[in-house]
Amino acid sequence: MSHIQKALEWRYATKQFDSTKKLTEEQLNTILESMRLSASSYGLQPWKFVIVQNPEVREKLKAASWNQPQVTDASHFVVLCVRTDVNEAYVDAYMKKISETRSVPVEQLSGYADMIKGTLGRRTAEQILEWSTHQVYIALGTALLAAAETNIDACPMEGFESSTFDTILDLPAKNLSSRVCIALGFRAESDEMAKAPKVRFDSSDVVIEIA
Ligand SMILES: Cc1cc2nc3c(=O)[nH]c(=O)nc-3n(C[C@H](O)[C@H](O)[C@H](O)COP(=O)(O)O)c2cc1C
Repeated sequence: MSHIQKALEWRYATKQFDSTKKLTEEQLNTILESMRLSASSYGLQPWKFVIVQNPEVREKLKAASWNQPQVTDASHFVVLCVRTDVNEAYVDAYMKKISETRSVPVEQLSGYADMIKGTLGRRTAEQILEWSTHQVYIALGTALLAAAETNIDACPMEGFESSTFDTILDLPAKNLSSRVCIALGFRAESDEMAKAPKVRFDSSDVVIEIA
C-alpha cells in the first residue's frame, strides 16, 4: 500500500478531539500552506481562510453548528470562505501578481485577463459565487490530505449555518462568505469512530474505464 493510501486509510472525520493536545505553529502552517497552494480554476484563488481561536467566538460558532463539539474542542478551527468580490478589478489584481511573480509585463497578460473576464461576463453573480465555491472545496480536499500526511486529525464540516457564521465573523465587511470548515487537532482516545472501518464503494463501483 502506498504511503498516501495509508494516510488516507488512517484519517477519518474526527468527532471527538482531545482538547489538551495542540498543533505546533509548524503543523498549523503546513495545513494553511496546503490550502494556499491549492489548485484553482485560472489560478484565481477565490478564497480566504479564517482561523478562529477566540474561545467565546468558538462557543457562538458551535451554537450555529448544531452544537458539534469539534468546533470548540479541536486545537484549531478554520473557516474556509469564498471571496464575494471576484470581478474585473480582482482579475486585474491577479494579473499584477502574475506580472510581479514571473517578471512579465502586465500588458503581455491582457489576453489571459480578457479570457478570464469573458468567463466572468458570461456568468451571473450567483454563478460566479457558485464557481468560486467549488474552488474553496479543492482547498478543503488539499488540507484533508495534508493533515492525513502529517498525522494531524481533522473534521471537514459543512453542518453549520453559513449566514450566522458570516454575521458572527463579520465576513460581509471583508467581502467573504463562509462555505466549509475544518477542525484540526488530535483524536480523543474515546472517539469510537476512529475504530470504525471506512465505508467506501469498491473501486469497480466508482471507476469506469472507457477502453
Ligand atoms: C464537505 C463535507 C462536510 C462535512 N460536514 C461534516 C459535519 O458537519 N460534521 C461531521 O461530523 N462530519 C462532517 N463531514 C464528514 C463526513 O461525514 C465524512 O467525511 C464521511 O462520513 C466519510 O467518513 P471519513 O471521512 O471518516 O472517512 C463532512 C465531510 C465533508 C467532505
